[in-house]
Amino acid sequence: MSKIDKVFFSGDFLKKCEDWLKRFPENQRRSAVIEILKFVQKENSGCLNEKLIGDVADYLGMPRIFAYEVATFYSMFDLNKLGRYKICFCVSISCMLCGSDDLVAHVKRKLGIDFDETTVDGKFTLKKVECLAACGGAPVVLIGEKYYENLTVESIDSILSNLE
Ligand code: FES
Repeated sequence: MSKIDKVFFSGDFLKKCEDWLKRFPENQRRSAVIEILKFVQKENSGCLNEKLIGDVADYLGMPRIFAYEVATFYSMFDLNKLGRYKICFCVSISCMLCGSDDLVAHVKRKLGIDFDETTVDGKFTLKKVECLAACGGAPVVLIGEKYYENLTVESIDSILSNLE
């Protein structure tokens, strides 16, 4: 435990992690890696880094490389500082067939950024993600923790302009 960052793995935060771990057998702590990484990312203003990923691995008693592989595989994890709003555009098949390419091009033009970039005012970061499991509402975008479905150029413009 001594190597683990006390800021995260102490007090209420540690209790939250321990509560989550109760869902798994004692010898399967690593099964909680995704959720614990999510907890840490949220606590660290929306992004992870190598040290924090290593701390999670140490906490769960798993090789650091395994936690790093998880953190770099899933698009919900970020190793760079993001804008205030993370806009995740689904570009998988249902969304693509329903016009996500045109929406993405529109938003890139509007914000003046590409995928994995942040606007100069630090407000928006644009990300490309695979299926968000909301295909019935394609095309779909996830902003923060909220889904927006059946998007059009007009609706995405309105959504973006309503974000403070
Ligand atoms: S393909 Fe976009 S939500 Fe499934």
